[in-house]
Amino acid sequence: MKVLITGATGLIGQEIVKLCHQSKIDVNYLTTNKDKIKSTSNYQGFYWDPKNYILDENCFLDVEVIINLVGASVAKRWTPSYKEEILESRIISTHVLLESLKKTKHTVRHVISASAIGIYPDSFQNYYMESSPERDIGFLGNVVTKWEETILQFETLGIGVSLLRIGLVLSEKGGAFPKIKKPIQLGVGAVFGNGKHWQSWIHVTDLARMFLYVLEEELTGVFNAVAPNPVSNQKLTNSIANKLNKKIVLPGVPRLIMKLFLGEMHILLFASQRVCSDKISKSGFEFTYGNISSALDSLLP
Ligand SMILES: NC(=O)c1ccc[n+]([C@@H]2O[C@H](COP(=O)([O-])OP(=O)(O)OC[C@H]3O[C@@H](n4cnc5c(N)ncnc54)[C@H](OP(=O)(O)O)[C@@H]3O)[C@@H](O)[C@H]2O)c1
Repeated sequence: MKVLITGATGLIGQEIVKLCHQSKIDVNYLTTNKDKIKSTSNYQGFYWDPKNYILDENCFLDVEVIINLVGASVAKRWTPSYKEEILESRIISTHVLLESLKKTKHTVRHVISASAIGIYPDSFQNYYMESSPERDIGFLGNVVTKWEETILQFETLGIGVSLLRIGLVLSEKGGAFPKIKKPIQLGVGAVFGNGKHWQSWIHVTDLARMFLYVLEEELTGVFNAVAPNPVSNQKLTNSIANKLNKKIVLPGVPRLIMKLFLGEMHILLFASQRVCSDKISKSGFEFTYGNISSALDSLLP
């Protein structure tokens, strides 16, 4: 079997590529960076430049499933022009894939795309299922809502669509975790605000396994991609500190301070989303890292 992955060179993508190869699935991937193009028997890179509607259509040859992970990082300062890039990198790239498939004879039957729990509004009380109708009306919520709407257009081509609403990905190789860990390791860790906001996290290995599970079981629809036990920011911070034999002595960092430093993107540190993973569990998926303690044991051995 062969899959095409967009964003394969990123944090989640690299983990998925590893699992694909373990399962003897060949990988074609699209990259915007010509230096990242590799060509081996089971890992073949193709260049694309979505902004200019450039895509090498050879990438679709013999591909049955597309795993879509492309997107400019949300963890950079949200200037007006960068906000546009966050949105457009997701929407335009999807349009380019859609338009290319329309004019190519292809074998694609399933698209599995990243989405994000940022689609759900900030709430201390709500427990979000995939069917929850509430939508965040801020910048991030709007981006994710438009992103999902665009991805669903693959259905008009008779292609099944799965959307994985990803939570805070924990990996020692990148993303938020090394940035959360560092100040704690240096003895200057602190919670954000009162630390009571929910953080729905997932270990990167479980996330990659979930993509493969959805692929192999041919599941379509929306799935929350979070571990079964979300924690408060305080619990996450204290758990990391305990594993590192450090103490959290500083008071919570006030929201206003982070807003001054980071601008609008400070929301990422304070948003509270308690998200439920029952749907994927009931489909038979088993988490290796179901609670934060086991995840941290693997990340901070
Ligand atoms: N990590 C998380 O905690 C998290 C949480 C929720 C949702 N997600 C979503 O999951 C997806 C993958 O996340 P990740 O952490 O693996 O991201 P990542 O490490 O930043 O990788 C994303 C990849 O997308 C491509 N890309 C970046 N900017 C682009 C642009 N402006 N135009 C076209 N391509 C671009 C890059 O590939 P090339 O350089 O090869 O082109 C990059 O390797 C993203 O869409 C992200 O929003 C992640």
